Amino acid sequence: MTAIQGPSKVAAKAQSRSSSAADWSLTSWRSRPALQMPVYPDAAVLANAEARLRRYPPLVFAGEARKLKGALAKVANGEAFLLQGGDCAESFADFTANNIRDTFRVLLQMAVVLTYGAGVPVVKVGRMAGQFAKPRSSNVEKIGDVELPSYRGDNVNGFEFTAAARLPDPERMVQAYNQSAATLNLLRAFAQGGYADLHEVNRWNLDFVHNSPSSERYHDLAARLDETLNFMAACGLTSATTPQIAETDFFTSHEALLLQYEEALTRVDSTSGDWYDCSAHMLWIGDRTRQPDGAHVEFMRGVRNPIGFKAGPTMPTDDLLRLIDALNPSNEAGRIVIIARMGADKVGDKLPALVRTLKREGRSVVWSCDPMHGNTVTASNGKKTRHFDAILNEVKAFFAVHRAEGTHPGGVHFEMTGQEVTECIGGSTDITVDNLNERYETQCDPRLNASQALELAFLLAEQLKAERLSATKVRPAV
Ligand code: PEP
Ligand code: CO
Repeated sequence: MTAIQGPSKVAAKAQSRSSSAADWSLTSWRSRPALQMPVYPDAAVLANAEARLRRYPPLVFAGEARKLKGALAKVANGEAFLLQGGDCAESFADFTANNIRDTFRVLLQMAVVLTYGAGVPVVKVGRMAGQFAKPRSSNVEKIGDVELPSYRGDNVNGFEFTAAARLPDPERMVQAYNQSAATLNLLRAFAQGGYADLHEVNRWNLDFVHNSPSSERYHDLAARLDETLNFMAACGLTSATTPQIAETDFFTSHEALLLQYEEALTRVDSTSGDWYDCSAHMLWIGDRTRQPDGAHVEFMRGVRNPIGFKAGPTMPTDDLLRLIDALNPSNEAGRIVIIARMGADKVGDKLPALVRTLKREGRSVVWSCDPMHGNTVTASNGKKTRHFDAILNEVKAFFAVHRAEGTHPGGVHFEMTGQEVTECIGGSTDITVDNLNERYETQCDPRLNASQALELAFLLAEQLKAERLSATKVRPAV
């Protein structure tokens, strides 16, 4: 375990020793334009919450963030695949052990499908234990004649449509911290305490909707995996001799939007003298806050975690290079994850130029596909939704671009839940517009339900397998 020191005493020392960015300080973001941030009504209440958070223990350790960076370096080199997923927004109201377990379980199931089906190591990263702050396209929400500030995630204000709930409240950051700590505690127990043992793959399926076609397919895969494990055991490879069978690495991530919260949890790692944002292993910058001169990029360039940023269809190639120059001047592998979220109909047009530019410039990045945010539509009943086919089509088009450019389609980024919600349309359980009202539970964007997520993993495994086979085919003989 890496020791983490509080920021105040060691800050000056770290600045001189640190290989973190020049001219950066923990607060340098404060003099840059900061979009999508709340305006708190009472500065003293804010300062008090920040001061408490600064004293609280880190949620993750620098050594763990470095381990994830090492795993992502393998993804960048084409040797592994990134699976990142979870809620659009976690909520205080839905905070239960079962919810955490179910999301974790579907991610594990997807990872097994990808690993076993396509034969690639899968790096598992949850949008969990900190995904509480949301950028919004409008500052206000109007219902009838009433206009109120938009909901910005549970660590900023309340979802309820009342003036009192919508007022930003700094105490929410403390509650988000506490919920994240408890969530992480459970995730660590699940990942390392036996639940994630590969001998359990069949058990993970028990609570699944029984007639779902992906559940049956999964059952078959689990039976084959059991045979493989028996064979391995006969060769002397068991959970006792091979810890990878019994436990897994599971990392956390969220959008680093609320910079007061991120700043308060950013600490100096005493081993390296570098700054790490200890609120999560990986942080990403959203599509609305990725301005190269903005506060979010300024903050993130000084911490050494793996960093993602979203790239929507309006991302200019120049901005892409400026962002990478700012965030990864030393071209460290595993540092940058570009999360492309173009939309199924735009990805074929917009992505190739970006991929080609970075290939030409020799920049090491993980290319990941978020097929959710470019495919949000409003259904005829007024609900925000996404079509399973559009999601799948964006993933397929993303793979096709990388095949054509000779680059690695490194990963996927999904909004999903372990519950059988009815928020996205389609998939083999065939959710229709009429079903949307049955279990529409998201506080923000529509998520894939457990069956849809698993089905997508099977389709993805086919894509990955094809990529792997074609890569073997073109590899020159030695
Ligand atoms: C999100 O990931 O929830 C999000 C808001 O995405 P984007 O920044 O791509 O719009
Ligand atoms: Co979202």
